[in-house]
Amino acid sequence: MRLSLKQGLAAFVATLCSLNAVAVADPLVSKAGDTAIIPGWHLQSVMRVPDDMAMLSKPGLNTTHWYRVTSRGTVMAGLVENGMYNDTHLFFSNNMENVGVREIFRQPWLYREEFTVNPSENQYFDLITHGITSKADIYMNGAPVASKEEQQGSYGGHNYNITAHIREGNNCLLIRAYPTNYDRDFAQSFEDWNPRPADNGTGVWRNVEISQTGAVSMSPFRVNTDFKDPMNTSEKEQVNITLTTDLINRESRIVRVTLEGTIEPPNSGEPIQFVRNFRLMPGKKLKASIRVGVRNPHIWWPASWGSQPLYSAHATMFIDDDSQNISDRSRSVKFGIRSTDSSVNSHNDTAFTVNGHPFEVLGAGYGPDIFLRYDENRIRTFFQYMLDMGLNTVRLEGKQEHPELYELADRMGMMILAGWECCTKWEGWEYNDDGTGFKWEDTDYKIAGAAMLHEAEMMQPHPSMLGFLVGSDFWPNDRATKVYNDALSQMDWRNPVIASASKRGYPDDLGPSGMKMDGPYDWVPPNYWYADKLGAGFGFGSELGAGVGTPEMGTLKRFMTNDELNTLWTEPDEGLYHMSSKISSFYTRKIYNRGIYSRYGRPKSLEDYVLKCQMADYEATRAQFEAYSAHQNASRPATGAIYWMLNSAWPNLHWQLFDYYLNPMGSYYGTKVGSRMEHVAYDYETESVWLINHSIKDEGDRQVFVDLIDADGKKISSTKLKPLTLPTTSKQLHPVSGIGKIKGVAFLRLVLKDAKGKHELSRNVYWLSHKPDVLDWSNSTWYHTPVTEYADLTKLESLAPATVKMNVKSSKVKGQNGWTHRVIELENKSKVPAVFMHLNAVDTNGKEIAPIIWSDNYITLWPHETISLALQFQGDFHLWKLELSGRNVEKQTLRGK
Ligand SMILES: *[C@@H]1O[C@H](CO)[C@@H](O)[C@H](O)[C@H]1NC(C)=O
Ligand SMILES: *[C@@H]1O[C@H](CO)[C@@H](O)[C@H](O)[C@H]1NC(C)=O
Ligand SMILES: *[C@@H]1O[C@H](CO)[C@@H](O)[C@H](O)[C@H]1NC(C)=O
Ligand SMILES: *[C@@H]1O[C@H](CO)[C@@H](O)[C@H](O)[C@H]1NC(C)=O
Ligand SMILES: *[C@@H]1O[C@H](CO)[C@@H](O)[C@H](O)[C@H]1NC(C)=O
Ligand SMILES: *[C@@H]1O[C@H](CO)[C@@H](O)[C@H](O)[C@H]1NC(C)=O
Ligand SMILES: *[C@@H]1O[C@H](CO)[C@@H](O)[C@H](O)[C@H]1NC(C)=O
Ligand SMILES: *[C@@H]1O[C@H](CO)[C@@H](O)[C@H](O)[C@H]1NC(C)=O
Ligand SMILES: *[C@@H]1O[C@H](CO)[C@@H](O)[C@H](O)[C@H]1NC(C)=O
Repeated sequence: MRLSLKQGLAAFVATLCSLNAVAVADPLVSKAGDTAIIPGWHLQSVMRVPDDMAMLSKPGLNTTHWYRVTSRGTVMAGLVENGMYNDTHLFFSNNMENVGVREIFRQPWLYREEFTVNPSENQYFDLITHGITSKADIYMNGAPVASKEEQQGSYGGHNYNITAHIREGNNCLLIRAYPTNYDRDFAQSFEDWNPRPADNGTGVWRNVEISQTGAVSMSPFRVNTDFKDPMNTSEKEQVNITLTTDLINRESRIVRVTLEGTIEPPNSGEPIQFVRNFRLMPGKKLKASIRVGVRNPHIWWPASWGSQPLYSAHATMFIDDDSQNISDRSRSVKFGIRSTDSSVNSHNDTAFTVNGHPFEVLGAGYGPDIFLRYDENRIRTFFQYMLDMGLNTVRLEGKQEHPELYELADRMGMMILAGWECCTKWEGWEYNDDGTGFKWEDTDYKIAGAAMLHEAEMMQPHPSMLGFLVGSDFWPNDRATKVYNDALSQMDWRNPVIASASKRGYPDDLGPSGMKMDGPYDWVPPNYWYADKLGAGFGFGSELGAGVGTPEMGTLKRFMTNDELNTLWTEPDEGLYHMSSKISSFYTRKIYNRGIYSRYGRPKSLEDYVLKCQMADYEATRAQFEAYSAHQNASRPATGAIYWMLNSAWPNLHWQLFDYYLNPMGSYYGTKVGSRMEHVAYDYETESVWLINHSIKDEGDRQVFVDLIDADGKKISSTKLKPLTLPTTSKQLHPVSGIGKIKGVAFLRLVLKDAKGKHELSRNVYWLSHKPDVLDWSNSTWYHTPVTEYADLTKLESLAPATVKMNVKSSKVKGQNGWTHRVIELENKSKVPAVFMHLNAVDTNGKEIAPIIWSDNYITLWPHETISLALQFQGDFHLWKLELSGRNVEKQTLRGK
């Protein structure tokens, strides 16, 4: 009762205050328990203002000639926001090269903001940072608050006591952010992913906050549960939650406090209240752990296995004296009841479990925006796309973004493998000969420790956290490992901690990482994945793929000149600015193009080249995810694969499953087919069919139809199988008969249906060559395995044309999130297969509609076969057109209705 009365009163008083103070700016924080984000900044280079931090950080400065930017953003993001640079222009052709290395980016930048506070007695103020790149001096009202020796690194989050600096009325905060060198500083580099942004990501890229508390403050709750197994009957009845917070007594007297909290269950269930008393010695810190039983717990699952019920916990702390004043308030923390674990199996491969079930990681590596701009809707689309593709995990390699990303992942059931980045300062180890990072000195351990502490606190409560990799290409040395481990345990870390993403070595305190980083990163043929070497489908591949991800035509034209587009298909060995950075092994498309030209035939036009790329990309991602899925319970199980990468930091030509403008392409739909929950896949090595099941519940009899036809649509073989499927299990079925009879090219269709043959669970079509690709394993490099003989798919160039009818069927189904939903029917009217048909939805200007989700795309239809495809999108279908084209299908257009 007391709780709600006090809160009500506080709200009432706050309303009165704001009514009385219309003329003056509202105070940023006004009572104990308030925390507020600095809402925006004035940004300017030190080269444009006097070199006098004391003067610049006093309230009342004329900032007319400063840029105005939002609450967080790098220097480049701020300059784009102010129209100094235009990203559409920058991202076109090689325009970004012309920004050059200007002196202004080699000098510090200032972030300055004034705000109002009305401090009163017994109130304490903190300045809270979450990372400033590369490092910063902080001033307030003319005086220094923190120096760049302490405020270092993109993830260096600190609380600074600014109580003595705060004054009545206007206050000024000034941050001097120093330029970033990826080898010297703990920042966020793009390594070989793309060209560097001109500012190397310098600036206040994360929020800065001011908090007000009474005598005792509390840190955000960490959450642990003793939940392990959803089948355990005692755990079904009750699990125990432990909420942990650090209390700090800011006064030089003993203070007693009462903490009153609530856990709100999902679905507006009965709230659980708790009350605890603490006594704090003068100036001391106390780790307070509160155990609360939760009856009939709702269990949180990754998206493909169940729902994502979230509990939330919040608390208010009162001073236990006559005043009963509020001393602090916790932020509301959302958490899920679930368990994760990892272990290294007898093959030294890491395997994860979630809620006690073997969890095969099917994921991809995340790339932030090149200027580190964060757009919540964009990330939501990324996750929607990932779930649509059947991916369950996103890997953040040193790009940990913001708390909102984790909240989204919690709500959407996306698992996260976070960790530190490779190669740069983060891996400046004496035994790292590959990296360019400067070797660590004594002071670096403190900076890295602060970063670990801060990120661990931010990530700790999130049910989406699958694990944290404290190294990437290399493992941290023993001293750094201890620093990381200490920070993680100080933050009550409850998820797996893994030494690195590779098997090069490991610190004793963590043991082997169990993750392989043996390539490939560049093109390999589909049969690669069914071998028993390097990146093939066994163990845990932390970053690997055939390097594919060519955008479709509409996107290519958005960032390349006609000359560049010409080069793309006529000069297969040429370097391209929109591939990886110039210094990398991936600046050209040599290896990839050799594969395309040899297998599919020399391109005859840009259109022909892009179509061949899409076919190759589709084959590549499908085979990777199918092989890893097929081998999930093999004698050496495939425990996880992270496709390299999910997306790009800017418009890019490879290493992505959808392009920068959110258009899915061949690599997307190959992944989507290859990662289906229940699926049938073709094994290029044994020429047999795999039955795949990733679910934890679905089992029983199934029907499998295996049909092989030649290029003219004539039957080579047709088989029906009736296998039994089991949860999280794959098994090898019959070899496909007639593979030896293929002349030129043949098509293989695999269809999986339920026991009664009513519901189609998967439909999957391959184009197969009479001769296989032959890999030269012994000549493998860290990024690819060469091919000595290529499959021959050139027959695809001379297929008889197919006629296909396209219809829009009315649909009563509602799309997710209020999206429009339509069903498109395709009917092949010919006696030959209609091959690799792409459906493209465009607006009235002919521009691709994105985001968009098709149930399937790049379809191959059997002679006289009909298929229904669902599409979902935002907006009005009447304003749209649908374009259909394929390998042997003339382009046709249909108006939306
Ligand atoms: C601030 O400076 C601008 C230009 O430097 C000037 O036009 C403006 O009057 C100044 N504002 C105040 C309040 O002094
Ligand atoms: C940005 O550049 C593009 C292409 O160069 C141009 O069409 C657009 O108008 C520019 N936008 C602004 C705000 O100047
Ligand atoms: C960015 O970092 C690289 C090292 O990774 C360095 O060579 C370069 O000079 C830096 N750029 C700026 C503008 O400081
Ligand atoms: C069920 O959970 C309880 C509490 O964690 C544990 O003590 C018990 O051993 C578990 N029972 C089984 C069968 O695992
Ligand atoms: C929760 O705590 C209670 C009381 O300490 C204990 O009896 C019970 O076994 C715990 N439940 C679980 C699932 O550990
Ligand atoms: C912060 O500064 C104030 C004012 O100087 C002081 O009273 C307080 O003890 C300091 N420490 C903390 C942890 O707040
Ligand atoms: C309690 O709050 C009142 C009003 O804000 C303040 O004047 C008083 O000093 C506070 N007392 C303590 C012990 O914090
Ligand atoms: C696993 O690693 C350990 C320690 O590095 C090594 O001794 C052992 O031979 C490895 N086992 C396999 C199957 O590779
Ligand atoms: C593979 O390596 C061998 C021995 O180093 C070399 O003779 C051969 O030319 C290489 N093959 C290719 C295709 O590079």
